[in-house]
Amino acid sequence: MKENVILGIESSCDDTSAAVIVDGILRSNVIASQKVHEEYGGVVPELASRAHQQNIVPVVDAALRQAGIARGDISAIAFTRGPGLLGSLLVGTSFAKGLALGLDIPLVDVNHLHGHVLSHFIRENADDEVPEFPFLALLISGGNSQIILVKAADDMEILGRTIDDAAGEAFDKCAKVMGLPYPGGPHIDRLAAEGNPKAFMFSKPHIPGLDYSFSGLKTSFLYTVRDGLKTDPDFIDRNRADLAASVQRAIIDTLMQKLEIAVKQTGVRSVAIGGGVSANSGVRQAVGDFCAARGLKAWIPPRKFTTDNAAMVAIAGYFKYLRGETCPLDAAPFARIEI
Ligand code: KG4
Repeated sequence: MKENVILGIESSCDDTSAAVIVDGILRSNVIASQKVHEEYGGVVPELASRAHQQNIVPVVDAALRQAGIARGDISAIAFTRGPGLLGSLLVGTSFAKGLALGLDIPLVDVNHLHGHVLSHFIRENADDEVPEFPFLALLISGGNSQIILVKAADDMEILGRTIDDAAGEAFDKCAKVMGLPYPGGPHIDRLAAEGNPKAFMFSKPHIPGLDYSFSGLKTSFLYTVRDGLKTDPDFIDRNRADLAASVQRAIIDTLMQKLEIAVKQTGVRSVAIGGGVSANSGVRQAVGDFCAARGLKAWIPPRKFTTDNAAMVAIAGYFKYLRGETCPLDAAPFARIEI
């Protein structure tokens, strides 16, 4: 029988990535991260699109080569249709369309958020374990913070979402206040390991239901630093690790408080995390401990599948392809789409 070979393409933000999945098993996952944004303290959309243009051909080429797959062997091309930066999405979308047209094979559009949720189904070996439905997904990235009830690969319900900043934005904005490079999340993670998480207290959100809010925490962090600098010009340097540990603790407490309510409300027995912030050591530990204490199964993804990658796009596309859900060649990308 002919193999199902899916080429996945991801270009929603500042990572150009291509991956190959053969009959559900990952064969390659190539990521070119864009360094050009570092000096600006955030992603510059125009520069991101240009870098995607430069990277896409070599990245796809490398993914096919590493997978040992010829272009003629590809069954379908899965691409991120949104949400993300429109100019960046256009590069991946246009490339995917061109290649699909040239090879006369189907195109499969993938919701980037579905990709993060379904990243737990990426198998590097045939005997790798994958979650059973239903499960709760805590999707925490630079642009989203959501609690999702995942009933099936194509049936997801958002139970809660952020009403302002995402968890990753909270990490990045607080890191910026401390003068740390962009993206600040990984720097806070590293510094937090040496700090006292109870050294500083920040305001806690009081949002009803399962929705999140992180903007109050960010403002309270800003005021703490501003007040500290009034009396001590070296306040940040002197308290770097404690500030990082305390803000990380506050973000994790906020995430876990709503997750606990969601688990109680739904009665599900397993919890998965995904998105860039799920790379955070404190988050991984907290979710692991939370599940262990309640006899729940925790799905903590390998770090390489937490941030944007095409392997998750390819696996989400593989499931859609098996269901016969392909998309027309005139499909346009979306800057914003919900689950
Ligand atoms: O999912 P992702 O790669 O893409 C976007 O949604 O943009 O997530 C990026 C976010 C950034 O905010 C980054 O600071 C955060 O994930 N992040 C982390 C860590 N690694 C990445 N935040 C905290 N700790 C980390 N180790």
